[in-house]
Amino acid sequence: MNERWYKQAVIYSLDVETFQDANGDGIGDLPGLISRLDYLSRLGVTCLWLNPIHPTPNRDDGYDITDFYGIDPNIGSLGDFAEFLHQADNRGLRVIIDLVVNHTSDEHPWFQSARSDPRSPYHDWYVWSKDEPPDRRQGMVFPGHQKETWTFDEEAQAWYYHRFYDFQPDLNFANPEVRAEIHKVVAFWLRLGVAGFRMDAAPFILELTRPGEPEPQQDFSILDDLHAITTWRRGDAVTLAEANVEKDELLEYFGDGNRLPMMFNFLLNQRTFLALARADATPVVAALEASPSIAEPCQWATFLRNHDEVDLGRLGQHERDEVFTAFGPDPDMRLYHRGIRRRLAPMLDGDQRRLRMAYALQCTLPGTPVIRYGDEIGMGEDLSLRERNAIRTPMQWTDQPNGGFSSIAPKRTVRPVITGGDYGYEKINVLAQRGRSDSLLSFMEQMLPTLRECPEFGSGTCEPIDVGHRSVLALRFEASTGSMLALTNLAARRCVADASAVSTGHAVEVFADDDYDPIDATLENLTLNGYGFRWIRLGWEIPSGPPPPTWPS
Ligand code: GLC
Ligand code: CA
Repeated sequence: MNERWYKQAVIYSLDVETFQDANGDGIGDLPGLISRLDYLSRLGVTCLWLNPIHPTPNRDDGYDITDFYGIDPNIGSLGDFAEFLHQADNRGLRVIIDLVVNHTSDEHPWFQSARSDPRSPYHDWYVWSKDEPPDRRQGMVFPGHQKETWTFDEEAQAWYYHRFYDFQPDLNFANPEVRAEIHKVVAFWLRLGVAGFRMDAAPFILELTRPGEPEPQQDFSILDDLHAITTWRRGDAVTLAEANVEKDELLEYFGDGNRLPMMFNFLLNQRTFLALARADATPVVAALEASPSIAEPCQWATFLRNHDEVDLGRLGQHERDEVFTAFGPDPDMRLYHRGIRRRLAPMLDGDQRRLRMAYALQCTLPGTPVIRYGDEIGMGEDLSLRERNAIRTPMQWTDQPNGGFSSIAPKRTVRPVITGGDYGYEKINVLAQRGRSDSLLSFMEQMLPTLRECPEFGSGTCEPIDVGHRSVLALRFEASTGSMLALTNLAARRCVADASAVSTGHAVEVFADDDYDPIDATLENLTLNGYGFRWIRLGWEIPSGPPPPTWPS
């Protein structure tokens, strides 16, 4: 169904705190974000995903919440948020927000009450054990930075469970009151006008057993209920879940289209990094071929980088080492024994051709692309910052102090702005790239709207094609709007691909890294530069109705 907006969306993820500061206190805010909506609109994105916006002690970048119904006063007021939604709406931009309900902050009034008195109405909103759990070190999400998953609370004289850091006690979803409250939270933000949620840590919300217990059990009815309440309150609302799970578990999360409409494709992400490291498309082809087919309303979200580490945990040890060697050679670039805490541009050595190829590749993988703020200009990381903060530095707008992010005195911004060197704001910023037609930003501004003219990539069926080179990923997409062929050369060497297997007698180049010679309709000799790519519309022969937008008249 073409009108499902999330199948043709381009999602842009940002943290308000590090995007644009309007009042000069060094912290990005909602008025600042409003002032950048035209920039985002021009970029060609259609949906914004805001990292947590709620009041927080900010010990895990806002993923530790103290009030699910409020706005962090550092970024503005509820009124500012309503105004932001209105302004985004004016530009046709949808907004989704992080739904972080696996846990709260330990400073949340619910937990404060729960720990202070076993008779508190909130006591059973969390997971307690009077006895010392047998192995408190199992199931940690942040190994090396987290000591345990059960912590003894002096006040409660009991152990509380936390999948993440010890200041993030897990909510007890076995308690119907907790579920009812979360439904209220969801309904509240939908009523205010958000288009949906990015659901944090989905697998942990469902777990009925604790790490180490035999026969782990999950309760998927939590997702059924959430879907029912979400779509009842807003018919076209979407939940995009973070569930980095094994292949055979994925279908349960999607259900028959009655659970989660969207999930991040973590398996494809890891295989894509392996493919980039090897300059060989085979791992991506294997991942696509192994992907389960999903129900019609369901959709994958693709990403290269997000706000966390590149998680390589589901690759084999040797494969992971290959990616580490290629993209995270220094131990300080690695995190939690499984990931890389870098941005994409430095991982690809700032190679502009390769970066463009990587984004063109992402946009032509099946699903909806999610782009991380700053990646559209090729921002870098600051490894002096702890853990994942390395990749969460302020947006670089201009070559003025603080990169135009804030007017506060330098060094007093919420997080340091990357300064000096190849990735400093002096060199890498929006304004500088705006002025150049050959910049990464100009490229993205061209590619994203073109992608919207090729709905086949987002919603069609996808079939890998053999074009005679392992380095070339060739995918054919079919949808009711037409067919497309996407070719991407992951290697630095030029080659000539043979796609005659999918020739239909008509073909038109829609987008490419270069002005190639006119396409020969046999598709036998398709030249691809090193790191080159071509998007080709295949024969359009529907006798009536308007042609697809990318078909010449
Ligand atoms: C998710 C988020 C991550 C956060 C964690 C705890 O994995 O992506 O940033 O730290 O959940 O909420
Ligand atoms: Ca501010």
